[in-house]
Amino acid sequence: MSTNTKIQQPLNIHNVDEYFHAKKVLITGGFGFIGGHVARRLVQYGADVTVLDIDVSEVRESQINCPRQQLRDQVSIIEADVTNKQAMMDVINNGRYHYIFHFAAFASVIEKALTAPYDTIMSNTMGWINVLEACRLSSYKPNMIFLSSTDKVYGEMDGDSYFEHLTPLRGIGVYDSAKLAADVFSRTYHEAFQLPTVTLRMCNIYGPYDFNTGYRLLPKAMSKMFSGEAPEAPELYFDAIEHQRDYLYVDELVSAIVLMAHNTVCRGEVYNLAGGTYLTTPAMLRTIVELAAAVEEKYEPVRSAEILKNGISVKVSANASTIHAITKQHLNGEKLVKDTGFCPSDRFLETLQETIRFYRQYYRFTQETRPHVQLLAG
Ligand SMILES: NC(=O)c1ccc[n+]([C@@H]2O[C@H](COP(=O)([O-])OP(=O)(O)OC[C@H]3O[C@@H](n4cnc5c(N)ncnc54)[C@H](O)[C@@H]3O)[C@@H](O)[C@H]2O)c1
Repeated sequence: MSTNTKIQQPLNIHNVDEYFHAKKVLITGGFGFIGGHVARRLVQYGADVTVLDIDVSEVRESQINCPRQQLRDQVSIIEADVTNKQAMMDVINNGRYHYIFHFAAFASVIEKALTAPYDTIMSNTMGWINVLEACRLSSYKPNMIFLSSTDKVYGEMDGDSYFEHLTPLRGIGVYDSAKLAADVFSRTYHEAFQLPTVTLRMCNIYGPYDFNTGYRLLPKAMSKMFSGEAPEAPELYFDAIEHQRDYLYVDELVSAIVLMAHNTVCRGEVYNLAGGTYLTTPAMLRTIVELAAAVEEKYEPVRSAEILKNGISVKVSANASTIHAITKQHLNGEKLVKDTGFCPSDRFLETLQETIRFYRQYYRFTQETRPHVQLLAG
């Protein structure tokens, strides 16, 4: 396991709550994992938050619907599809937002994109174009329009890490290329139409409230270990044995995003978001198993022993030959440090353990009996 930087948070975000206070904010994909965390933070800052999503159902698993947070009552909600150009024009024209954060996407990466390539391109590329077009055509211009891009736009690594202005964009998978196209248009709309776009190429994010349990490594492992009567071993796909990824805790990502919105120097720029930790997928899963057993030990020691005994189950993916999974993804984050002061912390084990505790409580208690897991601040 290697850490990208040893520099500690906390961040120096002076007057940030005043900065966002009473500002009108639109968060697309706000019922998803990251959008929900950004919504929570901005509500705390006193912003006037509108959350837009294609699925805003009250029964959907989402931080917005979490009864303890009561976020649902503290935000405005719009049900809309970002691929619908007219709908996005109406939302953005009428809303007159100071800030727009765009997270809406088909975001489960490889597997889902392979079964629905056209829908993936429509959501992940055209969804962003619709936001940009609506801003271009509206008489009211936001202070900032944020795109959540990904390290996957770089494709396979040549050297030791990806750099914003040196590394060519060679993403090849359907998800990767769709995000790449959106990412490129951020610069285009800034240069050609002076829109204040900010693009962040993010590494793998972990934290509470990620309910993408079908595909993503950590939520999927959590569901296997804690949702059934007996724990099951988390799966490691054989072709992922060599994979290496950067990981960052979600609340730190939110701090980075807040800093980028706050710093006008970021307008029109593209940034890498490096992780606090860089490690192989098998090492990540082994760490998850060890920490899950340690968390469970306090509640159900027998179950904890079973988690350890199960270990990891190695599987061969059914469509391995058609998947363009990148072997190593490692971002250099110096530009973001220089322009905003953001640095990932070295609290990987602490924040991962808190995340696991969240899922443990989520799956092992009912809504009524579940103790509250306080999020660690990023
Ligand atoms: N989670 C990560 O590790 C990570 C890493 C890099 C980049 N990203 C990017 O960050 C963004 C947010 O990711 P996430 O982890 O929160 O994903 P998520 O799947 O939890 O959230 C995405 C949200 O977008 C909504 N959505 C999908 N299609 C839509 C449409 N057509 N119109 C309106 N809403 C739609 C979904 O309902 C969902 O609520 C995505 O753009 C993703 O590509 C995520």
